[in-house]
Amino acid sequence: MRLRRAFLYTPGEDEHKIEKTCALRADCVCLDLEDAVSPSKKEKARLTVAHAIGTFDFGKSEKLVRVNAAGSPYFMADLRTVIHAVPDGIVIPKVEEASTLQEVDGFLEAFEVQQELEPGTMHLIAIIESARSFVNLKEICTATPRLEALILGAEDLAVSLGARRTPSNEEIFYARSQMVLYAAAYGLDAIDLVCNNYKDTDVAYQEAVSGAELGYCGKQVIHPSQIEMVQKAFTPDEEAVQKAQQVCMEYEAHMQGGKGALGFEGALVDMPVYRQAKQTLERAALAKDW
Ligand code: COA
Ligand code: MG
Repeated sequence: MRLRRAFLYTPGEDEHKIEKTCALRADCVCLDLEDAVSPSKKEKARLTVAHAIGTFDFGKSEKLVRVNAAGSPYFMADLRTVIHAVPDGIVIPKVEEASTLQEVDGFLEAFEVQQELEPGTMHLIAIIESARSFVNLKEICTATPRLEALILGAEDLAVSLGARRTPSNEEIFYARSQMVLYAAAYGLDAIDLVCNNYKDTDVAYQEAVSGAELGYCGKQVIHPSQIEMVQKAFTPDEEAVQKAQQVCMEYEAHMQGGKGALGFEGALVDMPVYRQAKQTLERAALAKDW
């Protein structure tokens, strides 16, 4: 299990920003070749990203590259160039069919064999961002074992739906819920929408908390100011950890005494509540090692 709380995008043509990401301690760093890069800079960005992935020290951050969508004129050139630097994973935007992931999987497999790399060295993350992607989620989730996570692309999804974006995110709530459900069903991580408002960090924090409550493991971020609070929102706080420890202790003692349920601080504790508490402790332990 890997921490994917803050998933930071950095424009691929901006070497200064890429260098900065090395010290930001975001769980994931995603160097972008897609929407953050204008068509006239695609070639430069591709080379800059391959160089950075191959030479910069990103510390413990997961090193990812978002390529342009399959079907775009940049897709194959992006893939061919960046895999030589062997990032931890490739992020594929606008995935609508399982076949897109299967083709990339075959391409990576051939490269890994040729370079004598461990099979599956580079994993895949798919951005789910159109109505069609959602309708095909089951096939996408089971396309290849190389797929580790799904990302919610709320802005492109809104275009696909003809939805009007609001601060409440109500207009995409069904999709936001559906994505976390499919991800859980197929053992994938789910990474929540971007909060475009990077000046007001409270807004990003509240949105991150709501994502964590829904079951997301992390959130896409676009600015250094959003990293710390997003990572905090996805990490159980001291109070939650203490309560989870007490719940586990009490429940385990009751089980040893042959009892299956108890009242704790005025609320029922039974097996599902115990399992939630165990999950809280596992998440806290993982974050502690970071
Ligand atoms: N990654 C790394 N460093 C970043 C960064 C990012 N995403 N965003 C900002 N920074 C750096 C800036 O370079 C600046 O450092 P400096 O003072 O040493 O130059 C510092 O953080 C403060 O940045 P600020 O001046 O507030 O913002 P900006 O005007 O430079 O950039 C954005 C604002 C929105 C253009 C920028 O945050 C960005 O490019 N975000 C990512 C966009 C993206 O990738 N979108 C695609 C996916 S949705
Ligand atoms: Mg998008």
